[in-house]
Amino acid sequence: ASDDDIPARLLAWYDRHARTLPWRSPPGAAAPEPYRVWLSEVMLQQTTTAAVAPYYAKFLARWPTVEALAAADDGDVMAAWAGLGYYSRARNLLAAARMVVERGGFPDTEEGLRQLPGVGAYIAAAVAAIAFGRRAVVVDANVERVVSRLFAIAEPLPASRKAIYERTGAITPASRAGDFAQAMMDLGATVCTPREPRCLLCPLSADCAARAEGEPGRYPVKAAK
Ligand code: ADE
Repeated sequence: ASDDDIPARLLAWYDRHARTLPWRSPPGAAAPEPYRVWLSEVMLQQTTTAAVAPYYAKFLARWPTVEALAAADDGDVMAAWAGLGYYSRARNLLAAARMVVERGGFPDTEEGLRQLPGVGAYIAAAVAAIAFGRRAVVVDANVERVVSRLFAIAEPLPASRKAIYERTGAITPASRAGDFAQAMMDLGATVCTPREPRCLLCPLSADCAARAEGEPGRYPVKAAK
């Protein structure tokens, strides 16, 4: 199987096996609003999907739009965030919401999104791809693991980050980049798991260099302590 087939095979798998998560549209449906994508990605940055889901629902019910959030009382937002941790995220969330309303809407490019407080390379790429359909290269910890295995990247993390980013870019399709990114995340979360990956269920097993070597769990290589 050639690298060209990887995105097509992965997207076909996603169409059948995408996780149903509250911030997602079903595969193929219209993209979710930027506010929803941004809010979910900020919450998910250091917190698991299971822990985020109830907070995400609570925030959306109380502040259904970025305008509503921008007008919120600071103390109310901090109180609603309580339990999610990393409180600088909540302060940045509010500052970013106010900046978005001030400028008349969300920026629709990675570069523009990165100007918002609390939005780094990962969140900017995720929002650009998922909300705006841009071909952005989205790399989180799940994607790092999948790509390290797919290409048997022998260099240890974190030195391998550049190679991982380049390899991810090389397989990111021009269309459906948001679905592609979320498919990679789902593959990492449910199939290409840290220990005992379930290669028999993997749509990319025929492409996977680590599997061909026989020991996929060896990747990503960690630097010796
Ligand atoms: N983790 C961070 N962003 C995510 C997303 N959009 N879907 C699933 N897991 C995620």
